[in-house]
Amino acid sequence: MLDIVETSNDALLDRFKKTRAMTVALTADLQAEDMVVQSMPDVSPTKWHLAHVTWFFERFVLEPCGVERFKDEYHYLFNSYYNSVGEMHPRARRGELSRPTVAEILDYRARVDEQMVELFRKDRIPDDCRATLLLGLHHERQHQELLLTDIKHVLFGNPLAPAACASLPRPPGTAAPAYEFNSGDTGIVRIGHDSDGFCFDNETPSHDALLHPHSIGNRLITNGEYREFVKAGAYDEPAHWLSDGWAAIRQHGWNRPLYWDPALETEFTLAGWQEINEHAPVTHVSYYEADAFARWSGHRLPTEFEWERAAIREETDGNLLESGYLQPVASSDSRQFIGDAWEWTSSAYLPYPGFRPLAGSLGEYNGKFMCNQMTVRGGSCVTASDHIRASYRSFFYPDARWQFLGFRLARDENA
Ligand SMILES: [Fe+2]
Repeated sequence: MLDIVETSNDALLDRFKKTRAMTVALTADLQAEDMVVQSMPDVSPTKWHLAHVTWFFERFVLEPCGVERFKDEYHYLFNSYYNSVGEMHPRARRGELSRPTVAEILDYRARVDEQMVELFRKDRIPDDCRATLLLGLHHERQHQELLLTDIKHVLFGNPLAPAACASLPRPPGTAAPAYEFNSGDTGIVRIGHDSDGFCFDNETPSHDALLHPHSIGNRLITNGEYREFVKAGAYDEPAHWLSDGWAAIRQHGWNRPLYWDPALETEFTLAGWQEINEHAPVTHVSYYEADAFARWSGHRLPTEFEWERAAIREETDGNLLESGYLQPVASSDSRQFIGDAWEWTSSAYLPYPGFRPLAGSLGEYNGKFMCNQMTVRGGSCVTASDHIRASYRSFFYPDARWQFLGFRLARDENA
């Protein structure tokens, strides 16, 4: 899974320093008070993210190399879900941690960073230690995305509507192209990661899958198209909805995407409230809403395998973290497979045939979540460019909305 034999310690360290610095840079416009709040159980406070990714390096890279822990209590506070390494503070109560302070957590980061640099200056580092460092970098990339989506949810709940990022560039005023369906691969195709670079265990093993005749949309569904769905009264028409979806929208009172205002004119972004761009992809919708839109329009969502084969053909750099918009933008040339929004697929998040989790405690990273969740693909506007590929599988419960979650359509074709 981790091919780093050809990567020098210096190259790994350089990447380590840049990734660590980026995480802190994302918090530049936040106040310490912003970083403590937990607005719902799925959301973690900013300072918890800053500490947890540090704990990951301390626990899984430094400790196996004989480096002593900074503070034992941090092991309890900042373990997320690794039951095999010990007890942990309950996830839903991370917002109660007024201590350690943000300053203390930044000290913790600095201390672990120094120890990592010291360790990797040595010549002989075991390959499994180097591989875990690389995994830790990808883990920190995942938390950079969570840090941004979580603080967006936190600040949305504040009537003062502060901006998480004060000066973001305005996206280009591109018009979305007409929606078209392109024929997808049919028959037995290869799925999964099969090249030399990094991947997570859940992308393996590469295997055969059968695709039936279908076609897949040329871009993501836009805010303008989704607004038509809302205005058509679709949230009041049970025929469009899965049973669980209908129950969810009734229970939660959902009648529009998470961050839209009731008039369907403005949306909350990382830069505060903005006018909704009708050409930009709709995001912050649940699987249920994506599925209902697809039914309403006479189509369906693609399977993750249909999506992956189409993405391999079309893969281009999309709107990712480095573009700096931190919000979805209208498609121009890109097919939007990579970037802008994670795309709901109709595939349950399940192990591939022959799947084996990583050995040891890190086997808890992905495999134990393969129940009751849906696979999403493609990364979003807050995913780093060195952290996404066509075979990448992320996953969420079908009622999740706080991530940049969007969708495209597919349809069956006659053989
Ligand atoms: Fe984590």
